[in-house]
Amino acid sequence: MQIYIINLYINSLFLLIVLKPLIIKNIQTEILRWFRAEKRDFLWRGQKDAYKIWLSEIILQQTRVAQGMPYYLKFISAFPDVEALAKASEQEVLKLWQGLGYYSRARNLHTAAKDIVENYNASFPEEFEELKKLKGVGNYTAAAIASISYNKPVAVLDGNVYRVLSRLYEDEIPINENGAEKHYSILANSLLDKKNPGDFNEAMMELGAMICTPQNPKCEECPINRFCKAKENNLTEILPIKLKKLKVRTRYLHYLFIHDAKNLILKKREAGDIWQGLYDFPLEENEGGKVKIFQSLDLDLTTLKKNNLKKITHKLTHQTLEISFYKIELKSIREQIKGDYIFVPFTKLKDYPLPKPIENFLKDFAVL
Ligand code: ADE
Repeated sequence: MQIYIINLYINSLFLLIVLKPLIIKNIQTEILRWFRAEKRDFLWRGQKDAYKIWLSEIILQQTRVAQGMPYYLKFISAFPDVEALAKASEQEVLKLWQGLGYYSRARNLHTAAKDIVENYNASFPEEFEELKKLKGVGNYTAAAIASISYNKPVAVLDGNVYRVLSRLYEDEIPINENGAEKHYSILANSLLDKKNPGDFNEAMMELGAMICTPQNPKCEECPINRFCKAKENNLTEILPIKLKKLKVRTRYLHYLFIHDAKNLILKKREAGDIWQGLYDFPLEENEGGKVKIFQSLDLDLTTLKKNNLKKITHKLTHQTLEISFYKIELKSIREQIKGDYIFVPFTKLKDYPLPKPIENFLKDFAVL
């Protein structure tokens, strides 16, 4: 019995001290080899400039590479460095961000740029904890900048990395449950190649994006398939596990597109709701059904010829917006302007950041 226990003990030690590091080393080598041969050619790849890494990572949290690339180019061309971004107005920044959604990210970008110029002598901090003090920089972005720009050994965790880890280790801890970030972060950091943290982090994300995809993963082409527990046990379809989402709230928005031959009415959106700082039309919101009276303007809707032009559904992460647009054409709209409403010539619309549904609506009317 004693010999049996001693044997078991030696076997576990062997597994822990010799085999596990060996397996991890093999996985690292295979992932890096694959990445260096197969990586997509992004404009910011090979870059060490923290400003460009920061910008690209914030944009890529928002959208896929193909859609994000034009935004990255627009930003770099308008604001080639952090000082240029800090000097811009919030409106300019929001305008360039228009269409990406989650506008608080653009405002945070601007705030962080000003912070870096004022408090860090216009150069990014290098340490993970220091980077996290910047507005809008969380664990993911701080790890990406610290590892890619400054070679610091911190692992990134994004949706792609969660998926790779959950499948590789057949880990059934739901990726969106409380404590999951800590758990997967320990796994990610134990797998990280500390000598090549930037490349390794990008390689894990790239593997998740290109091979270990949510549906139909290309396991046959995967450089680490022989280590993958989910592949071995036929579980790639169900891993990673994700708990059901929060309930989505439905809102009913009624917009008045009030215009004359050359101008229209807009209003800047306030804090505490979606699209803060962007511009939309005069708006009334109700619990559903038709809008009877428009309280925010003096217009008597019953006497005006109004066309219910269009109804659309616009989905945000936690809200479904049921939007109705009404079109009201007046001889002159100048006298309607009061309070927070502003009078905007069609020719100046390009200077105003607009929420996606408003932008699409105006495009339909060939105004944009
Ligand atoms: N997704 C977001 N950032 C990425 C990066 N740097 N490499 C690969 N995929 C990514």
